[in-house]
Amino acid sequence: MNVFFPRHRIIPRGFFITAWCLAGFSILAASPVPPALPTAPTLRQAADARHVLVGTAAASHFLSEPEYASVLGSEFSQLQAENEMKFGLIHPRPASDPNPYNFNGGDALVAFAQGHNMVVRGHTLVWHNQIPDWVKSGNFSPQQLSDILKGHIHTVMTHYASKVYAWDVVNEAFEDDGSMRHTIWFDQPGIVAGKGTEYIEEVFRWAHEADPKAKLFYNDYDAEEINRKSDAIYAMAKDFKKRGVPLDGVGFQAHVTLKFDDPAKLESFAKNLERFAKLGLELHITELDVRLTDPSAESLAAEAKLYGEITKLCVQQPACKVLQTWGFTDKHSWIPGWYKGMGWALPWDEKYQKKPAYEAMLKELSK
Ligand code: XIL
Repeated sequence: MNVFFPRHRIIPRGFFITAWCLAGFSILAASPVPPALPTAPTLRQAADARHVLVGTAAASHFLSEPEYASVLGSEFSQLQAENEMKFGLIHPRPASDPNPYNFNGGDALVAFAQGHNMVVRGHTLVWHNQIPDWVKSGNFSPQQLSDILKGHIHTVMTHYASKVYAWDVVNEAFEDDGSMRHTIWFDQPGIVAGKGTEYIEEVFRWAHEADPKAKLFYNDYDAEEINRKSDAIYAMAKDFKKRGVPLDGVGFQAHVTLKFDDPAKLESFAKNLERFAKLGLELHITELDVRLTDPSAESLAAEAKLYGEITKLCVQQPACKVLQTWGFTDKHSWIPGWYKGMGWALPWDEKYQKKPAYEAMLKELSK
């Protein structure tokens, strides 16, 4: 049983909407004084009724902003560290240092999540970015590197055992053409001999040993549609399932532009999810955002439509258990810093006002 989403919490579709309306009408009918208006369901309430977790990436240094904490703690049922559980931040110093790890940020996020009845998704154990200098410039042999990574996975997963229910074990290991990405872990110098997905298999086995209860995910971008990258991930997943490598699911980042709102692309995404679902995998949409070039009413409406389409895809696919956005307010989105001239990618604006994208997600989750 999935302890984070027990089956007894299954509530019939439309329950919240109906209950919300009934509560409103009965208050109005019975009360002589003006009643407090019933509040609309949150994303989280609507998603609960669809057996989907609605998540967001977050950063501990923003938790002191009252509006940030209030939206995060009320609208979402899952939290993921945007950066603070990545190798460079959580393990900034080598074992020779008296204090190699820094769990402060991750621990603060876990405490916040626990205080707000949210589950925590871990991100990420093996990635080519945000690796500390001591690893990058250490001139380690494959055996040394392998020991470092195994120790890292073991320490971080043990620290968060029973607090983090699922991990992006490996992030972005393929190129767009489906070949293996050349990284420090794969072949520069690499952690195990072998030209293919052997190193990924090895780290999934280490992760399973470290925390046998955690759900283990492979996560990537631009693999939403059926294409060479998603074909390569699919081939790996099929092989892993066949041979009993402990892979529980696949994460689809879904950092998209308005171009993604194309019936052929959306249909391809649905078919792609379906083929992964048939392997018995759990599917998570992990980093959704829709970057725009301007915040005109027209662009915000188009953004909302696409948020609605992607939400619908997840809701309609029984294996899709998580719909997660990469942050929630345009005030703290990674997009302007990474895509020049772009932004306005999230469901709340810079002043924490709900955008049309929010209403579109809520509508699809409430159907
Ligand atoms: C990004 C963060 O949002 C930024 O704050 C950071 O500077 C770089 O990384 N794919 C991933 C995420 O898996 O970890 C990345 O997060 C965005 C792309």
